[in-house]
Amino acid sequence: MAPANAIDASSYANLDEVVTKRLSLALRIDVAGRRLCDDSTATLTLFARVAGVAAATLDIRGLDILEVTDAADGAPLDYAVVPVAGKLGGTLRIAMPPKFAAGADATATVVVRYTTDGLGGEGGAGGACGWLTAAQTASGAHPFVFTQSEAIHARSIFPCQDTPSVKFPYTTSLTVRSPLVAVASALAVGDPVSVSGPGGGGWVRYLFEQVVPVPAYLVAFAAGELVSRDLSPRCRVWAQPSSIEAAAYEFAEVESLLSTAEKIAGPYVWSRYDLLTLPASFPYGGMENPCLTFVTPTLLAGDRSLVSVVAHEIAHSWSGNLVTSASWTHFWLNEGFTVFLERRIIESLHGSGVAGLSTYAGRQALGDYVSSVGESHAYTALEPVLVDDTDPDDAFSVVPYERGYNFLLHLRQLLTPGDDPAPFDAFLRYYFSRFARRSITSDDLRQALAQYFPDSAATLAAVDWQAWLKAPGGLPSTVSVDESLLHQAHALATAWVATTKSVDRVAAATAAAVAAAATEGLAGWPAAQLCAFLQHIGALTSTTRGGTPLDSSVVSALDTAGHFNDCRNSEVRALWLRVALAAHYDPAVANAKLFLTSQGRMKFVRPLYRLLASVYPGGGMARALFEEHRDRLHSIAAKMIEKDFADQSAVGAVA
Ligand code: BES
Ligand code: ZN
Repeated sequence: MAPANAIDASSYANLDEVVTKRLSLALRIDVAGRRLCDDSTATLTLFARVAGVAAATLDIRGLDILEVTDAADGAPLDYAVVPVAGKLGGTLRIAMPPKFAAGADATATVVVRYTTDGLGGEGGAGGACGWLTAAQTASGAHPFVFTQSEAIHARSIFPCQDTPSVKFPYTTSLTVRSPLVAVASALAVGDPVSVSGPGGGGWVRYLFEQVVPVPAYLVAFAAGELVSRDLSPRCRVWAQPSSIEAAAYEFAEVESLLSTAEKIAGPYVWSRYDLLTLPASFPYGGMENPCLTFVTPTLLAGDRSLVSVVAHEIAHSWSGNLVTSASWTHFWLNEGFTVFLERRIIESLHGSGVAGLSTYAGRQALGDYVSSVGESHAYTALEPVLVDDTDPDDAFSVVPYERGYNFLLHLRQLLTPGDDPAPFDAFLRYYFSRFARRSITSDDLRQALAQYFPDSAATLAAVDWQAWLKAPGGLPSTVSVDESLLHQAHALATAWVATTKSVDRVAAATAAAVAAAATEGLAGWPAAQLCAFLQHIGALTSTTRGGTPLDSSVVSALDTAGHFNDCRNSEVRALWLRVALAAHYDPAVANAKLFLTSQGRMKFVRPLYRLLASVYPGGGMARALFEEHRDRLHSIAAKMIEKDFADQSAVGAVA
């Protein structure tokens, strides 16, 4: 089915005719039973954009619709459900009250009662919900649930116009069995109250309110055995009891990240910034749910070395959450601006050398992606065209992040030449206040630039928007950044790779000894620099780039010098495993299996399964491990890994 609107190809809603003005979501969540109970309701205030609108079509997936009524008088409204309208899910078509259809009253509030009962599996609100049994949680005492709605999974939690182009304030009441605690992407209202429910008492209701309008994908909640710790008057961290100490330590700097972000981007409008450390199956590094960022426990490195992910999610408070891309085609406006702000925050706090490392790593990742899918692949463009019901999850890549970031860097250099970031920061503040609470496209950015830089018309006219936004391939150009820390890392990486290349055994031994001695000095390097070092070894020894893997004896020496196989920083660990597995360094196999089965962050598990499958193709080791552990993964992650295996075997079959 083709979308019924000209605004967002990823939604079946009639967005040209109707917009959501408000949502009130009342959910009774049976966490142990993995379902939303049949007294759950979504109350939507809908507004007619044009006269004569007879029906509102909402997106749904795996929802069992029980009843639709008019909130004004409780009268039932006719509705039709198409459970699967196409690859993007199904539709709920509600016949609107006569006054609305007649154009006499442009607003109507409809109450949809629904459940996810009996639908099970991925359908049972499973698209967005990660349900964990008690045994899958840290204490083993209570089940847990969390949602992940970006990009188009909100429709599996509540019927909605599941598009970033429509934003609305929302309230939610979440009823869970005591002693589970519920949290949401909104501000808590009052204290939880005990209520009755199926099985009598033992239920407790939590209320939340989000006054800033948000798109459906930012409506989020979690429930489980949760405790919290205050980090500052407006910041708090939530986690399961066993990890709260570690989380409070790891994220202690959050207030300073947030106030640094405000200096760059302008006032923080969401009142609170809390963090929720999720169980290990959370499929992303972080998700910018308003007022409550969700993060993976893989950030708990014990040394605060991964806070750039928190800087990134904080940055979304402006780019993405306050100013939102109007469709998934314009997703780069969320992520590209966010990476830009993230690196500005890191630069302010830790210097341009550290920020430069991420820029370089990002360019490498982008280059790898472009060569893996091919220079002409549509998804390498900054504004990918999502045709034929494409699931935005399938088009997801590093492109909106890094191509987007590099485009902004290019614009900054053209418009505000010189080393001072302040003048372009001032433009960012203008952009965020001008488009606050709205959903926009690249054209809006273009207009804002023209208005903010009236004296730069000629410069702006020379910007190749077509090449940056629409054309596939690599970066049209790059701006140079601070590479001092990078060069140091690369020099050492080159020395290690040279040890393998030396034909003369004495020369090799000497080179190895020199490199090993230098490597002991790594202890003082920031994690990002260790990453640059390992990343460069990986690049120099990659067979697809014509390199030769390191000899496993060299990897062993490297491990002795740098203790990489014991490193628990997840970013370092991922890059180390790439180098060590390619060299068939045995201790790395156990490390890889443990890493694959102890967390479910897609950034790590997807490439690692692929790598294991290609380094050890015969025995089906990777596939067997996946089958054994897939139950512990979020359904989105399981779906993507499944797809990777299929792609990989298709490539294998051709080759
Ligand atoms: N908003 C994204 C996560 C996302 C994007 C979820 C698209 C679903 C669809 C989040 O802000 C993000 O980018 N997370 C990154 C971390 C970041 C530091 C690059 C991640 O999860 O790795
Ligand atoms: Zn992001």
